[in-house]
Amino acid sequence: MLLKDKIAVVTGIGTGMGKAIALRYAREGAHVVGAEIDEASGQQTAAEVSAHDRRGLFVKTDMGRLADIKAMVAKAVDTFGQIDILVNNAGVTRSLGFFDVTEEDWDWIHAVNAKGVFFCMQEVAREMAKRNEGRIVNIASIAGKGFRGTSNISYAGSKGAVIAMTRIGASQLAKHNINVNAICPGATRTSLYDRVMEQLTEREGISEAEAIARMDASIPLKRSNTPDDIANMAAFLASDEAHNITGQSFNVDGGLMWD
Ligand SMILES: NC(=O)c1ccc[n+]([C@@H]2O[C@H](COP(=O)([O-])OP(=O)(O)OC[C@H]3O[C@@H](n4cnc5c(N)ncnc54)[C@H](O)[C@@H]3O)[C@@H](O)[C@H]2O)c1
Repeated sequence: MLLKDKIAVVTGIGTGMGKAIALRYAREGAHVVGAEIDEASGQQTAAEVSAHDRRGLFVKTDMGRLADIKAMVAKAVDTFGQIDILVNNAGVTRSLGFFDVTEEDWDWIHAVNAKGVFFCMQEVAREMAKRNEGRIVNIASIAGKGFRGTSNISYAGSKGAVIAMTRIGASQLAKHNINVNAICPGATRTSLYDRVMEQLTEREGISEAEAIARMDASIPLKRSNTPDDIANMAAFLASDEAHNITGQSFNVDGGLMWD
């Protein structure tokens, strides 16, 4: 087991990658605090974690609100006494052309994807620093490195912020023995991916099958990710095997981007 008896906070555990990461962490021996805005799916994943004989604690949290993040971290520390691992996974987007992005889109996307990621790192790192130990894994995106097939420009900007904050966080938290790394997924078959594909097909007047085939054809390995492809990397980065890796943003994308 890579994460035996560790306490992990994972955000956005209801579906997709967050769910896959929470369940993989439980199989690796971790207890999981799941911060999720959707009550039903959050409770469901927490129950599935508990079925692995680990504790799954769901805390209803809007990652765009600092007050919610503070309350979630306090609840995690109250319940488990410490936090060993944070996975900042919750993220939002929709398919939009350059001229369609509104102020409302920008504020929603950046509140969750950038502001939420920073303040969750800050709140959790305060606890980790007390014990001089911790692992943070941020889920960014190849969009943050300029992938041209991004859902929209504002989303790409929010993920670029995650990559930059991963580097600065790693450098400023290193003295507390906290490693900070990011994963940059490429196309990954989740509900977010399905929604973006649906919106894209509406905007461009092509069929969904055509949009998915176009995306898969552009990937050198010719396959999009499953959520487990991301969970594999998230398990490695949180484990002792990655103890000397920090400040990095790793693409998991079938070869779509090189840097
Ligand atoms: N799917 C892809 O192709 C892809 C590619 C690159 C990066 N990503 C990133 O991966 C991460 C996970 O995405 P996914 O594809 O699994 O998405 P998803 O929509 O399937 O799951 C996201 C989860 O986050 C929750 N969530 C949304 N807003 C929240 C909020 N304000 N507070 C708390 N929870 C909230 C949702 O309810 C959901 O359970 C995101 O950061 C996303 O930007 C996804």
